[in-house]
Amino acid sequence: MTSPANSRPAFSTPEELILVLDFGGQTAQLIARRVRDQNVFCQLVRHDLSIERIRELNPKGLILSGGPASVYEPNSPQVDPQIFELGIPVLGICYGMNLVGQMFGGRVQPGTKREFGRTECQTIATDPILAGLPASSTVWMSHGDHVQETSGLLIPLMKTSTCEFAAVKHRDRKVYGLQFHPEVTHTQYGGLLLGNFVKTVCGCHGTWKISSLIEREVASIRARVGNKRVICGLSGGVDSSVVAAILYKAIGSQLSCIFVDNGLLRKGESDKVRDRFQNHFKTDLHVVDASARFLDELAGVTDPQQKRMIIGRVFIEVFRKEAESIPDAHFLAQGTLYPDVIESGANHDGPAATIKAHHNVGGLPEQLGFELIEPLRDLFKDEVRRMGLELGLTDELVWRHPFPGPGLGVRCLGELSAPRLAKLREADAIVMEELRLAGLYRQIQQAFAVLLPVHTVGVMGDGRTYEEVVAVRAVSTDDFMTADWFPMPHDILQKISTRIINEVRGVNRVVYDISSKPPSTIEWE
Ligand code: XMP
Repeated sequence: MTSPANSRPAFSTPEELILVLDFGGQTAQLIARRVRDQNVFCQLVRHDLSIERIRELNPKGLILSGGPASVYEPNSPQVDPQIFELGIPVLGICYGMNLVGQMFGGRVQPGTKREFGRTECQTIATDPILAGLPASSTVWMSHGDHVQETSGLLIPLMKTSTCEFAAVKHRDRKVYGLQFHPEVTHTQYGGLLLGNFVKTVCGCHGTWKISSLIEREVASIRARVGNKRVICGLSGGVDSSVVAAILYKAIGSQLSCIFVDNGLLRKGESDKVRDRFQNHFKTDLHVVDASARFLDELAGVTDPQQKRMIIGRVFIEVFRKEAESIPDAHFLAQGTLYPDVIESGANHDGPAATIKAHHNVGGLPEQLGFELIEPLRDLFKDEVRRMGLELGLTDELVWRHPFPGPGLGVRCLGELSAPRLAKLREADAIVMEELRLAGLYRQIQQAFAVLLPVHTVGVMGDGRTYEEVVAVRAVSTDDFMTADWFPMPHDILQKISTRIINEVRGVNRVVYDISSKPPSTIEWE
């Protein structure tokens, strides 16, 4: 093992790049994603990235994101005026538009009426950025300030009943501003506007593809790894599987994968991982069956946070021991995604970036002493899925619902024991199978069974039973921060209930969870 330094170089630059300067808006990362939907590579960077670095990255265009500040407040984040001298198009969105307004003599003021939500917007000019836009469309506003009057340098392109300058363009330069948010789906023609900006105004061809990203990543991994060995922790989930698949493509036999069976996994998970990474990809796979040790350490524990802490600690110990047994291991691969990097709020670009302590395999500390490889660092979740499919992973794996690191440990409420976990595992497998059979799996973002720590009375045949209860949970959500309970068709609920009660010994009652988040959480513990 070697130094823990994360010496990954700044992101590699493809031929056509759009940079989003991040002023702290909640939807800044969405802008980058929408631009990538146009097959143009897009990267979020700090708003104060140096002009030299921007020149070096050679973007085809710049987008200034929204942000929570007001441009006229002291210490509000500002833009380097030199960006307007680079000769490349600039698009300011919301706060970014106010910066454009301020820069070119407009007056930015708090609006008499704050505008939030859907607003009708009129198109009042002709310009390449407006190509294909109807005379009237719905946009999503979320702002207090707006550009109130201009020096004549900024020409209005769109307006709403309360905002005269909903979209503007500089008279002589390719500098634009949108007071609304084209990146959110509520803006009817947001994709069209961003597409026009990126393709027509900036002149991008839209040749970026996931497969070109795979090729680039493979080349960069090979160059970095040389003839050294890389360890990859597998969790059974999408991110770590895609990481392993791309590493396997890049370095083949120099990859060693570690899969810790903590006894808290779903039915068949361990076999699936073996099948995928030993039989399909012929990786050097180390499956460590530590289920007895986990159960031992968890004996008698009922508090959810204590369970999480124990599971996390034992995982690290088991993983470390196995990693140390692999000779010459130098790198550790992790499935850090782009939103995790952004959420760190730190330097987005360059080696100094501090990364949120996010680990897909359950929380591996930096002190393990490996150099980190993070091949998914530039990607959003949907892009990781596309990459997974391109790399030959199955639909089933790529669209798998998220499964928490502590696994069944936080779904088997109360004390954990091998028989209770076995019950839960069976019930959970029935839920999954029925959702797949009904074609509902992809409509639901997360579903699972929970074993409750109560016994209830039932009758089976002529006898009275006193057995445990299974709760079924299924939610619809965009981001897992809020979630609605899924309105499950009654016939599917009936099938699930009948099967669980008939097939899982020791369960005589099934209930369906009809609580949304907030105030409930998705998991029960
Ligand atoms: P909650 O229950 O907070 O869950 O609404 C939101 C999302 O996070 C997952 N989750 C976890 N994931 N370790 C994880 O890796 C955990 O301890 C954990 N707790 C919750 C949960 O499954 C859902 O997707």
